[in-house]
Amino acid sequence: MTTTQQDRYDHGYDFVVVANRLAVDRVTDEDGTIGWRRSPGGLVTALAPVMAESDGAWVGWHGAADEQLEPFDHADMHLVPVPLSGQEVEDYYEGFSNATLWPLYHDVIARPEFHRHWFEAYRRVNRRFAEAAAGVAAEAATVWVQDYQLQLVPQMLRELRPDVTIGFFNHIPFPPPGLFSQLPWRHSVLRGVLGADLIGFQRESDARNFQRVVRHRLGHYIKSDRIHVPAGSRATDEGSPLVGFDADPSRGTAARRLSAPTAEDGEHRVAEARAFPISIDTQKIVELAERPDIIARSQQIRRELGDPETVFLGVDRLDYTKGIRHRMKGYEELLQDGDLSVGQACLVQVASPSREGVESYRVLREEIEGAVGRINGEFDTLAHTAIRYLHHSYPVEEMVALYLAADVMLVTALRDGMNLVAKEYVAARKSGTGVLVLSEFTGAADQMRQALLINPHDVDELKAAMVTAATMDPAEARRRMRSLRRQVVSNNVQRWARDFLGRLAELKVAAR
Ligand code: F6P
Repeated sequence: MTTTQQDRYDHGYDFVVVANRLAVDRVTDEDGTIGWRRSPGGLVTALAPVMAESDGAWVGWHGAADEQLEPFDHADMHLVPVPLSGQEVEDYYEGFSNATLWPLYHDVIARPEFHRHWFEAYRRVNRRFAEAAAGVAAEAATVWVQDYQLQLVPQMLRELRPDVTIGFFNHIPFPPPGLFSQLPWRHSVLRGVLGADLIGFQRESDARNFQRVVRHRLGHYIKSDRIHVPAGSRATDEGSPLVGFDADPSRGTAARRLSAPTAEDGEHRVAEARAFPISIDTQKIVELAERPDIIARSQQIRRELGDPETVFLGVDRLDYTKGIRHRMKGYEELLQDGDLSVGQACLVQVASPSREGVESYRVLREEIEGAVGRINGEFDTLAHTAIRYLHHSYPVEEMVALYLAADVMLVTALRDGMNLVAKEYVAARKSGTGVLVLSEFTGAADQMRQALLINPHDVDELKAAMVTAATMDPAEARRRMRSLRRQVVSNNVQRWARDFLGRLAELKVAAR
């Protein structure tokens, strides 16, 4: 071990990311050797350089149950694996994170399940993550906690390590107060998140929802995105929502504070809650889209599909939030009505496997695959298919080839924190051709106003947008695509990380 490494182990890391998943994936070589590869996702890409520059450590689950791994170094990062038992994977990950919070935060598209033993596991696992982060953070370090699986960590960490500066970013939507308030552990979750100094959301409306529910349920004073949090709030304290403030018990909610707390109200600190819309590694997608082998692959894909006039593309995790069924219904009706025909059009649907241990995901898979079989059975010809359905994950090179092959990208999510596929498609279309059909219920729709924006619940509107996209005048398509690309080129994921961490650093200085 070098002196610098020894020093880090002795004194901790200046920048710590805490996320449900570790920043590396386990890979097995042809000779059976097991190693690690940096995860391809945007978050890791954005934070890797920050980790390399500033003594970074990443705390996360390595993806296997019942396995304890020692911390290790890989690609300029110190990785701290957090173990989960098989039961905790069921209760914390599949249960509370993905069968309670996920549907609740996505407009209850599926019915959220509330089980006390799931929340107990969530609390226990969040404490484990907080303790792991507290154990590796240097004195006065910056710790950035990611996403809905770890909402209790900010406050738990603050209790363990009051010296560190804490950021939290919620990658998924934050629901309106009326929905969030269904959660039996709503006060614990709010207090957990409020342990952060800076709380980031994808959209302005998510930040507003959070502020409204904090004001309504906890009565905290909020001005200009700054929430005044009384000292003494504890992450594990569901109890009374009225800590430190007057309340109106008849309303069953905390009374809204109209003036800033004074010394008489006791000590308080400030947590800032604002929107920081995430983006993609634009440069990487642009470079891949220019690679001759990837361009050739995109041409091959079109040939293999039988050279249709219009290739529609959907790329999603197989998740009920993505509106895959709505998209298929629209497409099926267009074929039935004769507005599209097989051979002339083809829908390529990549549905990458996801959360297969969760019942609602298993049901969805059956429904989607049933629909694909029915539509193809009715409309396929010997030479052409209506829907080319692929239940796989692909490397980014193949994804970019698909983006280049597609005339129309269909993003029909019923609710989505951001939707990075929409941004990747646009980044890949340097030629200016191609049309993006985009659900207004994605975070991306706030920024990508030149897409064909649709309400995916309105099947007629979706169908009309698909026809408009397939027949759009090339000059108009170019004008729209140029404007969309400007947005994605100037707002990449590196800028997102810089903006968030820059603001967190300002708050750190101000708090001194
Ligand atoms: O969108 C939230 C998110 O947690 C992403 O960060 C992640 O890529 C995706 O959902 C899938 O998550 P997982 O496979 O870890 O449940």
